[in-house]
Amino acid sequence: MANSHSFFASLNCPQQVTWTNDIKKMFTALDIAHMKPKGIDLSSYDSVKINAVPIYDQVSQGSMPPPGSGETPWSPAWVNTFACWIKQNCPQ
Ligand code: HEM
Repeated sequence: MANSHSFFASLNCPQQVTWTNDIKKMFTALDIAHMKPKGIDLSSYDSVKINAVPIYDQVSQGSMPPPGSGETPWSPAWVNTFACWIKQNCPQ
């Protein structure tokens, strides 16, 4: 469902979301360190933008960060902010 354009298009996103102000801080040092060897650099704007929809799928399902990693799943508000960033074409 998250792969469908209509899903993101239908979201209500009154706030402008940017990488610098909103998205960058959602990824912890632990997230970055664990995901870098797997080919996703969560500290990099370009890498997160290229992988944005798969990342959305993971965090919205609570699969990432993994249960048992010591981190808590993203809140619905964070998931929504990330979805709105995608809808707005991932502003830097
Ligand atoms: C396309 C997106 C992603 C994929 C396919 C993915 C895949 C994976 C895989 C395969 C592992 C290894 C799991 C294991 O060995 O048990 C892992 C570990 C991890 N990932 Fe991701 N991941 C994604 C996005 C994310 C995101 C967005 C976050 C943070 C918000 C994240 C945080 C972590 C952490 C913290 C670990 C280490 C867990 C641990 O060792 O306890 N990942 N990821």
